[in-house]
Amino acid sequence: MDVFRIEGPVRLSGEVSVKGAKNACLPIMAAAILGGGKSSLAPVPNLSDISVFSQLLEQLGCKVSRSPDGLLSVDSTVIDNQVGEYEIVRTMRASICILGPLLARCGRAEVSMPGGCAIGDRPINIHLRGLRELGAQIQLKNGYIIAEAPNGLVGKDIFLGGPFGSTVLGTANVLMAATLAKGRTTIESAACEPEIVNLADCLNTMGAKISGIGSPRLSIEGVKQLHPAEFQIIPDRIEAGTFMVAAAITQGELRLRHCRLDHLMAVVDRLRDIGVTVEPTTNGCVIAGNGPVKPADVTTQPYPGFPTDLQAQFMALLALAEGNSIIVEKIFPDRFMHVAELNRMAADLRKEGPAVVVAGVKKLIAAPVMASDLRASAALVLAGLAAEGTTTVNRVYHIDRGYEKIEQRLNPLGAKITRESV
Ligand code: EPU
Repeated sequence: MDVFRIEGPVRLSGEVSVKGAKNACLPIMAAAILGGGKSSLAPVPNLSDISVFSQLLEQLGCKVSRSPDGLLSVDSTVIDNQVGEYEIVRTMRASICILGPLLARCGRAEVSMPGGCAIGDRPINIHLRGLRELGAQIQLKNGYIIAEAPNGLVGKDIFLGGPFGSTVLGTANVLMAATLAKGRTTIESAACEPEIVNLADCLNTMGAKISGIGSPRLSIEGVKQLHPAEFQIIPDRIEAGTFMVAAAITQGELRLRHCRLDHLMAVVDRLRDIGVTVEPTTNGCVIAGNGPVKPADVTTQPYPGFPTDLQAQFMALLALAEGNSIIVEKIFPDRFMHVAELNRMAADLRKEGPAVVVAGVKKLIAAPVMASDLRASAALVLAGLAAEGTTTVNRVYHIDRGYEKIEQRLNPLGAKITRESV
């Protein structure tokens, strides 16, 4: 298993290019099932989650290949198996988004029920409710969701909100299924995340008829079939936000290329509020830390609110603020595994229900820490860049799921990170 040894503190400076968005690629790879031919997407990052999802599609009968420069093709001419196996689904929850397209194309899908996860309970009841509304018969058997619609799906007005607001992959599943349903579907309380906009645009390129894209009300006029397409993936806003925090926490200056600031308005707002400079450029931005940050209140919300996927990274940054901050998690109320680890690095964080009180400290001190999930591990790396001494981050396979060769991209900017197999 690999670990990172991170020597700090460092000051980052230089230029870095943001990769294609993992969370846009995964549902769009699933959408390729609907095309019945060879679709291609780019730029697709070289990540373990992408390889695992490729294996899942290959088990269904698809042919998947990725070139070194990030062009990924999915040939879904043949789908001769409709089962998403437990062995794959248990390692990656996003596997659930094959359910809608398989059901719509084949009239049947069997997908292992995803299990628990380090960021808390992650039910899929809303996905199933939405597909049932479209006419699917769904039962749970031996840990598998068995969904059937032998005579096809039928469009309907569906409310897809839940106790924590909209659902990203739930919207993706129902949207993909509705493209081939008979008649019109309306999804009310649809997720508005840029990844869903990217997916809906891709489906329209494949011949779907979706309107209201980017709003909480999606309208889908079902069509008889979709065709393959070539499609562009948006830049990864969470990776971009992580680099922004890297500049701020090291009081450095980074130029981000291939970055959509319009997808990061809530994040930029918080950064400017705490004294970080963010200047737009033609295809990205320049971000500069100006000494210790001011404290802030941060509440995670569905898009366009502050993303839960940057909560841990902001906690690392605010741990060094000149005063007390409050971070409230409104999407995954238990997504706080990083709190205890950051406290091991001399942060002063106190969890109060779905919130954390962050008392700013003057410095962080290196320690051995344990990554628990993708974004928590990013937060530990960021903290390690700023901390005094050598931080060891264990279980870096979590970070490899969502950040391509992060140490090889941070080191040219002034980081001192080595990867070791232990
Ligand atoms: N929820 C339900 N029932 C459902 C579905 C969701 O109650 O059927 C709840 C969840 O428990 C949560 C809230 O609704 O409280 C929102 O969850 P959502 O369904 O939107 O999450 P997701 O679609 O499973 C995606 C991202 C996550 C990201 C969330 C929120 C992908 C592959 N995953 O998950 O990304 O945190 O949206 O923005 O797109 C990550 O990249 O590290 C990551 C975890």
